[in-house]
Amino acid sequence: VSDAAFDRDFTLGELIGSADAGELGPALSAALQTEVALLDADGARIDGGSAPPAETRAPLTIELEPLGYLAGAVAPEQLAGAARTVRWGMLARARYRMVTDLHLDAVRTDYARLQEKHAELQRSETRYRELAARLDAEVKAQLKVLDERQRQIYQAERLAAVGQLAAGVAHEINNPLGFALSNLGSGRRYLDRLGALKGALDDAGRRAWSAAGLDALLEDFAELIDETGAGLERIARIVTDLKGFSSVDQPEEQVADINALIESLCAVLGGQLKPGVVLHRELGDVPSILCLPGHLGQALLNVLKNALQAVGERGTVRIRSLRNGDWLRVQVIDDGVGMSDSVRASAFDPFFTTRGVGKGTGLGLTVARDIVLAHSGRIHLDSSEGKGTTVTMDLPT
Ligand SMILES: Nc1ncnc2c1ncn2[C@@H]1O[C@H](COP(=O)(O)OP(=O)(O)OP(=O)(O)O)[C@@H](O)[C@H]1O
Ligand SMILES: [Mg+2]
Repeated sequence: VSDAAFDRDFTLGELIGSADAGELGPALSAALQTEVALLDADGARIDGGSAPPAETRAPLTIELEPLGYLAGAVAPEQLAGAARTVRWGMLARARYRMVTDLHLDAVRTDYARLQEKHAELQRSETRYRELAARLDAEVKAQLKVLDERQRQIYQAERLAAVGQLAAGVAHEINNPLGFALSNLGSGRRYLDRLGALKGALDDAGRRAWSAAGLDALLEDFAELIDETGAGLERIARIVTDLKGFSSVDQPEEQVADINALIESLCAVLGGQLKPGVVLHRELGDVPSILCLPGHLGQALLNVLKNALQAVGERGTVRIRSLRNGDWLRVQVIDDGVGMSDSVRASAFDPFFTTRGVGKGTGLGLTVARDIVLAHSGRIHLDSSEGKGTTVTMDLPT
């Protein structure tokens, strides 16, 4: 509560309103039996009367200050007595006003405080809202990270399981494959020896040879052996892929220059390009990284081969290396056939292929991804059907 309420100066109007004055004037007039006028400090009538007031006056004083006057044509002592009576009423009014002022003041202060509190609450509510929004965003981000991790773990586990299976299968196939290939080589040699016999035959022998149709038979036999050999080689390639996929032969890590790796790959592939196909290199200024160069080469080769298969007879394949923040990025971009959504969704799955029986094993991308993941990297496919495909591999530097 401010001090103002205690030492406040009142005006006459505050203590005697015009309605009060209108009552007081006639009452005093009746008591003193002459017209008594109520005047303010400047001498103007406030009781509603209009006649000029009498000369005799008695001050209406509050705290030594005359706030107004009584004027009437009576003895000064009589007028002073009436003034004291009026003053008594004014004092009561003043006290009452003081108390109500104090009360108002207190209420106002309380109100101001309330308003301040309200503003404070509003500020803290805003802060709270912001905090809640931030927390919400953080939780969402964390959830995303968790989700991603979970998927990676799931994928890694699945890969490990498939890898183990693949390694087992590869191992089991390798032995029989070895002797089948070697036996086939022997068979080829035996066949050549049989064919050489023809020159040493006499007439009867030659007739018997022709009658038995041995020329056609031997020729057919050679073809059979060739075809079988090609089939076995394909099996051998699958086994190699499977082994790469399961990373059974785990070599040592080395610091390697990826650009050099790309150069050598392009050199190998460049010789086998179809006339309408262009293979572009865009090698950026990238740091050497600790990696398994053989494996990375395998991954890149798989992706490049896919790109070359996608462009077919005519098109452009670009391989780029660049720095992307903390990552070394290698991109293989082709303007080939592209993938449908469903193909893209399964492209990394083991044994998924669209190439038809005997043409693809469906392990190319699986192996590539496995290798990139083993390097703590990431691999990503962008493709639009009929327009082309971009494979992006990010490796940590
Ligand atoms: N650059 C590409 N453009 C269009 N389709 C692609 C591309 N790369 C991969 N694909 C699709 O993804 C499938 C899976 O590819 P992946 O390399 O894993 O196996 P593949 O090429 O079929 O067989 P493999 O590589 O073992 O010979 C392919 O059959 C093909 O349909
Ligand atoms: Mg492939």
